[in-house]
Amino acid sequence: MTHNRHLMDDYDDYENLYDPLKNDRQTRRSRKAKAGKHTPKKSESAIRAELAPIGGTEGGFETTYRPSRYEEGWLLNSLRDFYRQEYITDVLALVRGGKEASVYRCAARPGLGIDLLAAKVYRPRQFRHLRNDKMYREGRGILTLDGQDLNQSLHNDRVMRAIGKKTDYGKQVMHTSWLMYEFTTLQTLYNIGASVPRPVAASPNAILMGYIGGPTHAAPALSDVELDKDETQALFDETLRNIELMLMHGMIHGDLSAYNILYWEGQITLIDFPQVTSSQGNSQAHMILQRDIERVCDYFASQGVERDPAPILRRMWKQHVERREQDVAADLSRLTAEAE
Ligand SMILES: Nc1ncnc2c1ncn2[C@@H]1O[C@H](COP(=O)(O)OP(=O)(O)OP(=O)(O)O)[C@@H](O)[C@H]1O
Ligand SMILES: [Mg+2]
Repeated sequence: MTHNRHLMDDYDDYENLYDPLKNDRQTRRSRKAKAGKHTPKKSESAIRAELAPIGGTEGGFETTYRPSRYEEGWLLNSLRDFYRQEYITDVLALVRGGKEASVYRCAARPGLGIDLLAAKVYRPRQFRHLRNDKMYREGRGILTLDGQDLNQSLHNDRVMRAIGKKTDYGKQVMHTSWLMYEFTTLQTLYNIGASVPRPVAASPNAILMGYIGGPTHAAPALSDVELDKDETQALFDETLRNIELMLMHGMIHGDLSAYNILYWEGQITLIDFPQVTSSQGNSQAHMILQRDIERVCDYFASQGVERDPAPILRRMWKQHVERREQDVAADLSRLTAEAE
């Protein structure tokens, strides 16, 4: 699609400037190679200016981790609130730079009950790799930083207009909503006993959560692990338990696979929830759940647990989605009958 292509062009330029995994020389080389074929829409300085929209770099803090020149402003601005609110005292290392966000290992304030925290810093919205987020947004409201749904708020006219007109402010609201879905989902799931990192705090560009892994190495994803024969069945069951628990609360992960399940000391942890989908309000919910279950079954099949995803999907859908719809329909007809 032309529109997406256009966004990806912007993103590529940004990648070259920002990607912490590339060094400066590589960056310059690859930008040179592209010269002639493609004129960047924005100059380097314009992009850099946009990387520090939250009040400049003043008031930055010293970190053990040395960010690259292009990463620094965005990183420190995004994490400054957590530092000021004394959730973190230091940024220790980059865990991974992904398409959508970079995750950093941070030192937690003593007394918080955990030593290490993971800060997921979202890429600037204009460079975020959009995974067709419109599809996931159907049936969801717009969440503000306090976790409230804008549609439920009385004084939302100005914000709704900004979103409709796609002003910078409106886009920032949508960006924050996207990550607030990740944060509020973690809160709900953590409280109901799902295997997810403990949510700690959220800011307009970042979330802070429990860190999975050791002091020098973060937990690998299942996709990078060969499981022992005697643990596969239990881990498969645990994954299904989490999918089912979510569904019981009207949620579908939406991007579940062995890449978004971490493995550490015999336990799994599900991560990466911004695209969480409503099982009741989204017309694609069935397909999205099917894809999650199939990907999970694919991975466990590669580890020796062969299970047909179709009956698992059928049972869960029937039990937790159709039944719920029937309950709502029954409630409605009862209420109508009572009113007559
Ligand atoms: N709580 C955590 N503890 C330890 N490592 C984490 C944690 N959360 C995320 N990570 C690491 O950071 C990576 C990226 O996180 P996540 O999947 O949430 O972001 P993403 O934008 O989807 O990135 P990608 O495009 O790479 O999937 C994960 O694959 C994992 O390696
Ligand atoms: Mg991921």
